[in-house]
Formats: sequence, C-alpha cells, structure tokens
Amino acid sequence: MKAIVLEANEKNTLKEVEKPVLQAGEVLVQIKAAALNRRDYWITIGKYAGIKYPTILGSDGSGIVSEVGQGVDAAWIGKEVILNPSHDYGDNPDFQGKDFKILGLPEDGTFAEYVKTKAEYLYTKPAHLSWEQAAAIPLAGLTAYRALFTKGRLKAGDKVLIVGAGSGTGSFAIQWAVAAGATVYVTSSSAEKIALAKGLGATAGVNYKDADWAEQLHALASGFDVVIDSALGEGFAKLPDICNPGARIVTFGGTAGDFPAFNARKFFYKQLQLLGSMMGTADEFKAMLDMVDTHQIVPVVDEVFPLEHANEAITKMEKSSQFGKIVLKVS
Ligand SMILES: NC(=O)c1ccc[n+]([C@@H]2O[C@H](COP(=O)([O-])OP(=O)(O)OC[C@H]3O[C@@H](n4cnc5c(N)ncnc54)[C@H](OP(=O)(O)O)[C@@H]3O)[C@@H](O)[C@H]2O)c1
Repeated sequence: MKAIVLEANEKNTLKEVEKPVLQAGEVLVQIKAAALNRRDYWITIGKYAGIKYPTILGSDGSGIVSEVGQGVDAAWIGKEVILNPSHDYGDNPDFQGKDFKILGLPEDGTFAEYVKTKAEYLYTKPAHLSWEQAAAIPLAGLTAYRALFTKGRLKAGDKVLIVGAGSGTGSFAIQWAVAAGATVYVTSSSAEKIALAKGLGATAGVNYKDADWAEQLHALASGFDVVIDSALGEGFAKLPDICNPGARIVTFGGTAGDFPAFNARKFFYKQLQLLGSMMGTADEFKAMLDMVDTHQIVPVVDEVFPLEHANEAITKMEKSSQFGKIVLKVS
C-alpha cells in the first residue's frame, strides 16, 4: 500500500509498504481521507515525546472497513466509518491512564491507504458529511469537546473566549460552543480569520497581535466564564484581567510558548481555575458525534491536499495560515 513514512533525518516520504496484518479484535480500514493535527508537525520536526522511526503519522481518518480480524462482527465490512484516535484512555475519566496512546505514533496512522485499529475505535461516519469533512473531526473535535464541556463546564448563556480561532481545535471549539448556546468571542491573527469565525457563529473577535487586544476584548465582552487557550505564550498573562470571577481557563497545548509570569493575586482573588486537558474518553467521542448529528454541524476544512503532498500540507500548518482543518485525500 502507499503510505507517507517518516524516517530519521528525512522528511515524510511517499513509500510502498506492507499492508497491516490484523490481530484478533482488529479491523482494517481503507482510508478515504486523513486530517492533519499540530501533533503531526511537532513529530515531523522532532519535538514530541516517544518518536520512533519509521512511523506513519496521522491520527484522523475516515474510510471503509475492508477486513475484520478474529472475533470482530463481520457486519462491519463495507461500513463507512471514522476512527477515534484516543486509545486506551483508561478507567478514570478525569485523566488518561498509563497505557494511553494516540493513533499515528506509536501505532502507524492514517496517512496511508490502509490503517488497522481495534473495532472499539470505529464510529459510523456522520451521513451528512463528505469523507474530508468527517476525517477532520476526531482528534481536534474530541479535544475541543472535552476542554469546553468536561473541563470548562460550559453551559448555555456562558461567555467563552477561544484563543487562536484559526486552529483546528479552535474552529471546532467555536462550533461546539455555539451549538451549546454559549456566546463566543475569539482572538486570531487577521481580520479575515475573525470574519470566518463570525461566520461560524462567533459574536466578535480581536487580533492577538494588537498590543491592546485584551482591552479591546474587555470592551466588547466585559468578561469571560470559560477560556480555551491552546497557544499560551505571553498572551496568557492577560487572561486573568478579562475573566469573570470563578472562570475556568482550559489549556491542552502551547503553540506560542509556555506559561508566562502572570498576576497571581488577580488569579486567586477571582478564584479562577486553570485546567489541563488531553484529548478525551470514548463517552466524550460519542457525545461529540451526537452533537454533530443533532446540529448537523459541518467541520471547517481549510484545504485538501493529495496524500502525496503531505509535506506541503505540513508546511502550511507550520505557517498557521489555515483556518480550520488541513486534510489529505487518500483514495
Ligand atoms: N493535549 C492534547 O490532547 C492536544 C490535542 C490537540 C491539540 N493539542 C495542541 O494544541 C495546539 C493547537 O492544536 P491544533 O491542531 O488545533 O493547531 P493548529 O491547527 O496548527 O493551529 C495553530 C494555531 O495557533 C494559533 N496561534 C499561533 N500563535 C498564537 C498566539 N501567539 N496567540 C494565539 N494563537 C496563536 C493560530 O491561530 P490563528 O490562525 O487564529 O492565528 C494557529 O492557527 C497545538 O499546540 C497542539 O499540539 C493538544
């Protein structure tokens, strides 16, 4: 089969490799579309824990079940599916267990014509979505879902700030929060991206490159109940100023850096909560897909590249010029 293989000291390269061999309980999925996540970029540049070579990246995929292993219901064959990349989350829904792993390192991922996975990670592809739109959902959608609802405890009527609206996770966070009846504000790097966020239902946004972005936001929204910040960096220091008392700030990434020094007095006086989050559980994945179905949500696909152009797609992600998800068309 054709696959994009990451080797030591090489770029991702299109290669001919063996099709995966199934163990009991596993299924083979013929991938139609795969989506990129920032993780694929971090791994490609060597900035990720546990990198091994060779590796086939890709955590997100949609496709058709083509074979089933021993013990798997043969009725899966021919079914149109998407894959949950959050594997072995464990028994405690508050945090992942020691066996937790993500599809696409250490196990070979979806940037290939076929991927194998356990049958428990198969979910029916939402019928109203194309292969590309469906492939966009899993990792980013799940992460945004848990961050907003489980960790951020977002409810209808809350005011939520999504930092970096153009990110894959950010575009889903906007869509999930709007569907839940929250009022959504964003930061982003251009007027065009803020306009796209408004097109998804955000009320307003400001450019995080403006020196007074936080003051602008405060004037617009007067205070936030939940903030989703996967960028961190210097901008994080302004968040305590613009949060309402009791607000939850949730993070699962640091695209722009780490935690800067920030005003601890403001943080504890307002009794703010800072919460870390990681992808999500099977129950959250199912609840997210129910939400997609109920609200007929269509994920934002920024651009679709052929599988052979995976490096071009990763370069686009490096530059953060996308709004929403970058997708590879596989077959
Ligand atoms: N822990 C987990 O389970 C988990 C899961 C998913 C993602 N992550 C992490 O979360 C982050 C986002 O992932 P992703 O796949 O959604 O990323 P992505 O699609 O590559 O988006 C990155 C975005 O970061 C924003 N950004 C860059 N510099 C910024 C700054 N100084 N201030 C505010 N925003 C800034 C940009 O937003 P604009 O386009 O709006 O300018 C950019 O589009 C990554 O660091 C990723 O590794 C972690």
